[in-house]
Amino acid sequence: MKLIAQIVGGIVLVIVMALLTVFVFSTQALNRVVEYSDTSPPIPKDSASIARGRHLARAIGKCVDCHGDDLGGMVLADQMPFARLVGPNLTTGRGGIAADRTDDDYLRAIRHGIGVGGRALVLMPAKAYWHMGDDDVAALVAYLRSVPPVDRELPPSEFGLVGRFALLRGELDAMFDAKDMDHMARRSAPPAPDSTADYGRYLANIGGCTHCHGPTLSGGPIPSGPPDGRPAANLTPEAIGAWTEADFFKALREGVRPNGTPIDSTQMPIRMTREMTDLETKAVFKYLQSVPAKATGGR
Ligand code: HEC
Ligand code: HEC
Repeated sequence: MKLIAQIVGGIVLVIVMALLTVFVFSTQALNRVVEYSDTSPPIPKDSASIARGRHLARAIGKCVDCHGDDLGGMVLADQMPFARLVGPNLTTGRGGIAADRTDDDYLRAIRHGIGVGGRALVLMPAKAYWHMGDDDVAALVAYLRSVPPVDRELPPSEFGLVGRFALLRGELDAMFDAKDMDHMARRSAPPAPDSTADYGRYLANIGGCTHCHGPTLSGGPIPSGPPDGRPAANLTPEAIGAWTEADFFKALREGVRPNGTPIDSTQMPIRMTREMTDLETKAVFKYLQSVPAKATGGR
């Protein structure tokens, strides 16, 4: 009897030690400091900039998809013991983070995906927003500073034991943009906002088309998407080369392909792309027509 008790006790001890190790190492990985170099441009206060910022937060940057329409935050996934992922409340209301964040804190979160203390933020699509020019990021922060306070207290994002195991195995790297970016790289000034392919490329980057449809826009599985999520469509001329500009407008505004079938708007953010201006939609179409044709998922 005593021997069995000792064996069972030993096994329990080993399990507890193993879990503790996973916990300690994953906490270390989550808190690892990512270095960056960048400073916030001055934040304007005029109404034109704030309007531009609102457009960037909705139609282009799609911040509202993860931080809520009122930017008061929302739970994105509640799947413990894997993870609970929460887009924080970005307002000055109860539970909001805005009151004690500096302009540099905002800039670091948006363009680099790095939070207070230097840790990599989960799910923030910073590789996309890294491209955002100074004027645009300043307008965006001006808008964020202007939104009415929302009282909504939410728990922070957190990883459970299953998530922490996956984290240590490197399976969740795609959820942390900041870990795989050159934070010291120089950013070229964005092109003038007109209906050129050049401006289209800028919008395709900061608008997350390249985040979901891939760096070459050839589609395939979405890096940080849910495992059972639909793959993103191929947007290169290989797939949509025969589309007219009108076809593209219909797809982005009504969520319908030229053959009449619906695009899955739970995955493809039609709700936001329908708010893109005519000029922006034309520019993105021109850019997509100019990229090299690739087979679906091709690099
Ligand atoms: C795909 C979802 C997603 C999108 C899109 C997104 N965010 Fe986030 N954001 C998050 C999550 C999740 C966190 C919290 C991450 C964490 O705590 O590790 C976060 C954190 C932040 C923070 C840091 C808060 C802090 O504690 O300092 C800021 C600021 C922020 N987001 C602003 C934005 C802005 C502005 C946009 C649009 C340009 C945007 N986010 C788009 C998911 C998203
Ligand atoms: C959050 C991820 C996400 C973002 C951001 C996104 N897309 Fe999509 N998109 C998808 C997915 C997933 C599909 C496939 C939907 C389906 O299978 O019905 C899709 C489908 C499409 C289609 C239909 C193509 C076809 O032949 O079926 C077009 C066009 C499109 N996206 C354009 C864009 C453009 C342009 C942008 C940037 C302004 C963009 N998408 C941003 C996920 C995204």
